[in-house]
Amino acid sequence: MPAVEVVGLVKRYGDRVAVDGLSFSVEPGQVFGLLGPNGAGKTTTVECLQGLRRPTAGQLRVLGLDPVADRERLCGRVGSQLQDSALPDRMRVGEALALFAGLGGHRHDWRALLEEWGLAGHTKTSFAHLSGGLRQRLLVALALVSAPEVVFLDELTQGLDPAARRATWELIRAIRDRGTTVVLVTHFMDEAEQLCDRLAVVRAGRVVAEGTPGELVAHHCGPRRVRFSLGATESSLVGALTFLEELPGVREVHALGGEVEVVGHGPVLAHVGAALVARGVAPDDLRLEQPSLEDAFLGLTLEEPSRTTSGPSAEDRRGN
Ligand SMILES: Nc1ncnc2c1ncn2[C@@H]1O[C@H](COP(=O)(O)OP(=O)(O)OP(=O)(O)O)[C@@H](O)[C@H]1O
Ligand SMILES: [Mg+2]
Repeated sequence: MPAVEVVGLVKRYGDRVAVDGLSFSVEPGQVFGLLGPNGAGKTTTVECLQGLRRPTAGQLRVLGLDPVADRERLCGRVGSQLQDSALPDRMRVGEALALFAGLGGHRHDWRALLEEWGLAGHTKTSFAHLSGGLRQRLLVALALVSAPEVVFLDELTQGLDPAARRATWELIRAIRDRGTTVVLVTHFMDEAEQLCDRLAVVRAGRVVAEGTPGELVAHHCGPRRVRFSLGATESSLVGALTFLEELPGVREVHALGGEVEVVGHGPVLAHVGAALVARGVAPDDLRLEQPSLEDAFLGLTLEEPSRTTSGPSAEDRRGN
């Protein structure tokens, strides 16, 4: 049984479609990432999965239960860090952790989390007096304090300094190793690549691609780019680079300063290398530019989708 299952989720606000038939499932113990542009419907989806919003249509299951109808049974088994959530200004760090540790009638030890999350010196600090990064750490610690089986983290490392981000990744790996299933919403490609076993890219309320980070890069990165530079003696070749355009798989050749870029499909690197050597040119920096998850993400999300239903306007993309 998947730990989390979403089948055909639709969520409308009036005639605005926030989620438009979205499906994915997460196996127990996986870290599953949701990526997508602002306004794509990620937060709405995880809020529906936490029983905070009622779906317009579709089926949702978390640990085999319905997030709305079985909300009480899921309490304590599911942890949540909501995007832009807040606590009462006067609530102190220790009080908040003690409160959340007791949810669902449990008595979890919250003091261990203080050390793990770098909050040990702040037990008596009130929420209003925490820096942005410390608030974020507290909100993540609160999501984990009941030792949940499934945890939803919406923009986990937003506002954290680089060292705190790295430390947070280690903690997420540690909870995954304990068997917790993690659903992570993120805009950081490095975070997705480092942490997620599988990813879904969401655009305009639908999943447009799903797979491991490696699969997304391999299948959605568009053409390959081969680059090399020409030395002073070879730069006269620039005007004669048309022979590269004739090579199998090559679509475009650009010369920029002393650097040449060949864009195409298939074994372009091998063809370019062979053709250059045959003409007595052997650039020592001939290379295939490695595509990244960001390239795949931009390829999947930049083009405006065709929609029959109303989509988020530019104004909606401001935020949440
Ligand atoms: N309560 C609401 N009432 C009306 N529209 C809403 C409401 N909440 C969200 N929306 C709209 O639903 C769409 C999806 O929003 P959502 O917050 O789920 O996006 P997101 O993918 O989390 O974006 P971001 O990356 O900016 O956090 C947006 O068009 C948003 O304006
Ligand atoms: Mg969001």
